[in-house]
This record gives sequence, C-alpha cells and structure tokens, in this order.
Amino acid sequence: MTVISKLSIHQFRNLHTQHIKPCETINLFIGDNAQGKTNLIEAIYYLGHNRSFKTKILKEVIGFTCNKFQLSAQVDEYLIKLEKSKNQNTVTLNQKKINNTSQLSQILPIQIITPDKGFIVNGTPKNKRSYLDWGVFHVKPESAKIFKNYNKILKNINTLLANQQTNELNFWFLELAKVSIIINKNRVDYLQQLKQTLLSKQTKTLDPLIDSLDQFNYQFSSGWPKEVDETNEQSICQYLNKNTPSLLRVKHLNYGSHKANINFMFNGKNECFFSRGEQKTLSIIFWLAQVVLLVNLNIKPIILIDDLSSELDHTKINIILHYLKDLKVQTFITDIGHNSSIINHINPVIFQMYQGEIKQQD
Ligand SMILES: Nc1ncnc2c1ncn2[C@@H]1O[C@H](COP(=O)(O)OP(=O)(O)O)[C@@H](O)[C@H]1O
Ligand SMILES: [Mg+2]
Repeated sequence: MTVISKLSIHQFRNLHTQHIKPCETINLFIGDNAQGKTNLIEAIYYLGHNRSFKTKILKEVIGFTCNKFQLSAQVDEYLIKLEKSKNQNTVTLNQKKINNTSQLSQILPIQIITPDKGFIVNGTPKNKRSYLDWGVFHVKPESAKIFKNYNKILKNINTLLANQQTNELNFWFLELAKVSIIINKNRVDYLQQLKQTLLSKQTKTLDPLIDSLDQFNYQFSSGWPKEVDETNEQSICQYLNKNTPSLLRVKHLNYGSHKANINFMFNGKNECFFSRGEQKTLSIIFWLAQVVLLVNLNIKPIILIDDLSSELDHTKINIILHYLKDLKVQTFITDIGHNSSIINHINPVIFQMYQGEIKQQD
C-alpha cells in the first residue's frame, strides 16, 4: 500500500514552509478560493512525476521572491526529495540521486482527478492516451522503455521527413511498426481488463452515479487508419511505404500509436453531447475503475481530487466519498467546504487552508 506519512513543503507556490502528517485514508483540505488547495495537490503530484500538471515553467511553481523550492515525502520506506532552482534539479530517493523518474511513479503512483488536467470523457486525445498509458505503465512497468523507444524512432522519422531524406526511412518504418504493435497490444489488453473491472461487482456501488454502467461503452482506435492492420508489421510498413510521398509533403508522421484515441459513449450517445457534470461523473468512474484494477493487482495508488464539489450534486459526492472510503487507499481531497455535512459522514482527517498555511483540525 502506498502511504505518504509525512509531506514537507518549502517555497512551493504560495504554500508556507511547513510539514503535514496525513492519515492513511481520507485527508480533506478545506479553504476558500485562492488559499493554496490546488497548489497542495500540485505539490503532491510533483513528487510522483517530477513535474507539474499545470505548467512546464519551473519559475511559476517557485514561491514569488524565492529562487528555489524543495518538496519531500516519506512514502512507505522511501524518502523522496526534490530540490529545484534555475541551476539545480536534484531528485533523491533515500538520499541517493536518481535520474529515472519512472521510478518515482512506481513508488508514488498517483491518480489525479482535477478539472485543471481536463476530464478524460470528452477530453483531448492526449489526455485519453495519458490516462490509458498510466494504467498500462503500472500494470507493465517495462512499457516505459517501450514508449521511450517509440518516441525516439518517431523523432528520427520526423527528422528524415522534414529533411526530405528517404534512404533510411524504410528501416525506421519497420522499427516503428514493431514497437507500435507492442504498444497497441498492451493498450488493448489493458482496456480489456478495465472493461472487466467496470462490469464487475466491485464497481456496482458506483452504478447510481449514472443509470447503469452496462450502457456505457467505448471504442479504442489504434492511431492507424482503418485500412491498416495494427497488429501486423507488414501491413503497417506497406501503408507507410505507399504513403511516403504524402508524408514527405506534410513533413511528419500523422498516424501511429502516438495518435491513438478512445471514444466514449453512453446510452448510444457520443461523449461530445454529455454535459460537464456527466463528463466529470463518467471520468471519475473511469479513474476509479483504474484504481480498483490496480488495487486488485496489489498496487495501491494514492488519489488526489481537487475541487470535489464543483459540478457534482450531494448524492453523487456522497456515493464517491463512500466508495473512496471503502477502497482503503490514501486520498487527498480539496474542497471549498460547503458540503461539510455529507463529507463528515466518512470521518476524514480535516485540514484547514488559509493563505498558504495548512492546519490540521482537532
Ligand atoms: N509561484 C507562486 N508563488 C506564490 N504564490 C503563488 C504562486 N503561484 C500561484 N500563487 C498564488 O496561489 C494562489 C492560488 O492558489 P490555488 O492553490 O490555486 O488556490 P485554491 O485554494 O483556490 O485552489 C493565488 O493567490 C496565487 O497568486
Ligand atoms: Mg483550486
């Protein structure tokens, strides 16, 4: 089980230099707007990914008037420490420097639910792929290397296309086809597992969130056009060879695993017709199904939910909170605090947030 037993913050956004000791179950952070709730969620996310979900610019997350930030967390037997400034980028694990951040994601697997990152239902293809590949990575950690390799090959192909160099193209097309087949298979296998989880008893208590999960469906597209058999090297290469002149014209490869997508449907309705509330509810079901799947495999991610109440009514909040409580995974929830009566049912540990200061409530 993954548990953050201590979290220390120094000069991260508006958060004061402080440490907190979260509980193993549900931690609730209450505060008005602009007090630092999202900043706290961002800090925890940063520790598991070595990056923010809001910005790529380091300066934005360092406290105004400061020149570096430090974050650390005791996660089970591991002490993760990040120290970042314009000139320094140090990540240590139990006092030893590490370069491989996928190691961080394994020690601190995080499922994040925040409007800032966008929902997956009716979300961007990029968001959907990142959702899918997060699951694939945790089920098969070796897939991180495969993705890296794919991106390297893709970069080579795009450089060749941009420079109108055709002599090595066929070699790299074949390399890409080989890796793309593995990525596709991992994704399809994973989605199959996810579907089973969604239809299992374990997600039954989520059914009242929507009328019935049975009428919920999704279609995966591999990223290759329909005429290509994405499980076959020859078919992929043939397609790429045939289309080389048009690829040379557009100067990049616009098909492949990097363009995969998922299309969600409910009651025969396409996701683009869902309301924001429906998008959020359905996305939460998918995120939670992913957590359940991993819990079954004995990998216990922690869950971050920013702005729980926005776009959800009391009944839905209640169902989700009880579900989280029964899941027995460590959860960090932020909320503006207008729903304390429902939230108090599940006895969370409550922290009040005020101008960047986090105080545990007695
Ligand atoms: N790098 C930074 N240094 C100091 N304060 C920051 C920084 N970045 C954002 N803030 C402040 O953090 C506050 C917003 O915090 P946020 O966590 O988004 O609030 P909320 O509680 O509404 O989620 C704003 O007042 C903003 O000015
Ligand atoms: Mg916020």
